[in-house]
Amino acid sequence: MQKLLPLFLILALLFSCGAEPSATENTAIQSDTAPAPAPEKALPAEYDANAPDNHLRPNYHFTPPAGWMNDPNGMIYHEGEYHLFYQYYPDGNKWGPMHWGHAVSPDMIEWEHLPIALYPDEKGYIFSGSAVFDWQNSSGLGTADNPPLVAIYTYHDMAGEKAGRDDFQSQAIAFSTDKGRTWTKYDGNPVIPNRGVRDFRDPKVIWDADHSQWVMVLAAQDRVQFFGSPNLTDWTFLSEFGENARNHSGVWECPELFPLTVMETQDDAWVLTVSINPGGANGGSGTFYFPGDWDGKSFSPRREAIFSPTDTVNWIDYGRDNYAGVTFSNAPDGRRTFMGWMSNWNYAQVVPTESWRSAMTIPRDLSLHATDFGTRLRQQPVEELKKMRTKNLPLDFPRIGDGVTNIDLSELGTNGAYEVDLTIDLVDSDATELNLTLSNKNGDVFYRIGYSRARGVTNAFFTDRRQAGPTDFHEKFAPESLTVAPRWSNDGELRIHAYFDRTSAETFFDEGDPVITDIFFPEEPFTMLTLEVSGSSGEGMPEGWSLVKGDIWGLE
Ligand code: FRU
Repeated sequence: MQKLLPLFLILALLFSCGAEPSATENTAIQSDTAPAPAPEKALPAEYDANAPDNHLRPNYHFTPPAGWMNDPNGMIYHEGEYHLFYQYYPDGNKWGPMHWGHAVSPDMIEWEHLPIALYPDEKGYIFSGSAVFDWQNSSGLGTADNPPLVAIYTYHDMAGEKAGRDDFQSQAIAFSTDKGRTWTKYDGNPVIPNRGVRDFRDPKVIWDADHSQWVMVLAAQDRVQFFGSPNLTDWTFLSEFGENARNHSGVWECPELFPLTVMETQDDAWVLTVSINPGGANGGSGTFYFPGDWDGKSFSPRREAIFSPTDTVNWIDYGRDNYAGVTFSNAPDGRRTFMGWMSNWNYAQVVPTESWRSAMTIPRDLSLHATDFGTRLRQQPVEELKKMRTKNLPLDFPRIGDGVTNIDLSELGTNGAYEVDLTIDLVDSDATELNLTLSNKNGDVFYRIGYSRARGVTNAFFTDRRQAGPTDFHEKFAPESLTVAPRWSNDGELRIHAYFDRTSAETFFDEGDPVITDIFFPEEPFTMLTLEVSGSSGEGMPEGWSLVKGDIWGLE
């Protein structure tokens, strides 16, 4: 469904940026490359319809036309359009001098690529950040009749870094008065100079209506810092949080603070999300969150018990491929919609695609809940994704018995892109394990999602991509340890709702908590689904699990 404008089939303007640097595991990103000159109205690098790796392109996930992509940036809804900017290096397929790539969409599904929005300049590379609609023209960068969109980003000054200084990251702004089509960097940049912290980046700004101020949260190495402003140009330090909060096995990046009502109690709460690398739930990059309160100056987490032997933090996603995610600013109807970068710094730069690298996750609506396990975020794939459904394959058998049930997906014709939605009744039998395996015809290459009530870790989900295609491009891509997530529900019914694309799976368990997002690279698309139940004792109980509901759709 991703539409590439014919415009981008025209030769793109390329410009020289030199050698490719690499992002280290600690994301102390190093480079020997000088900032690129900004050509006039350049397009993103050209999409190559004959690229040999096009069979690994997702059907419906956002990817750059060509070149390297990491974090989503500046996500905002404005005048009927969702804007997605992204960390972009158009001249290589590894991390390099960072630009903000740009795309717009009416529905977060079909994206139209636009010219690159922000180029590196003499002040540095353009690192991650956010965008807001300055509807009162508080910044004075637009007019009362035509208030601006304002982008807030980090300058990463390579010269400063190379000189061994610690002050090479600062916060800056740019503005647009033409619906994000062109951007002007503010004369007074940086708006927040470095405050003596080496890792000082990724500003995310919101309008704090209760306190009539703009609030910025940014990552400062092992904590987040909050700043307040009346006008987006003058910022005052408010407070910091996190030095003594878990988790600290990596550097903190890409934080976000937003309000969300607890559904069950209608209590107003706030959520602080933080990305960490390394130290993710199942290795490498990951994102976690704190439910809490915001008083206009500081954030206090709600300290509640987490009833899991393995978890000390709340993970947005237990998969290895959801990083640096944030939500759209200014979304209609108070909607909080999240998208992340569907990769991991452990191996992102060496995955087996060459003409482009990385995709974004599907958009997910967030909601906050009072649960038996404390205040927890849930994620649901956005309704708009239903538009991609092609043919439906209902699973109209009442029970999945012990043993193997094969379902041929090839008739859906969508080459590995399917939505699978199953609800099973856990209470009426003593079966112990359910596997959903997606494989190609001869079954030697497969990706597996499982639920287990036995198996060492009880009441847990797992995924296995160890044989889902090549894995030898990086030892951390498919280590022996499976990806594991605890079950965060006591419900007698279990829902497994998975979005498969050509090279990824995003599985929403129960009401959307936990979630596991994984990428993989099978040469042949998966066309077979196998359901496998095991462990029933057969003593006075029926075998297997009853299928309350089951549907499969092709997606395109
Ligand atoms: C996260 C990150 C950010 C930084 C950007 C650089 O993946 O390291 O902290 O702004 O990527 O591309």
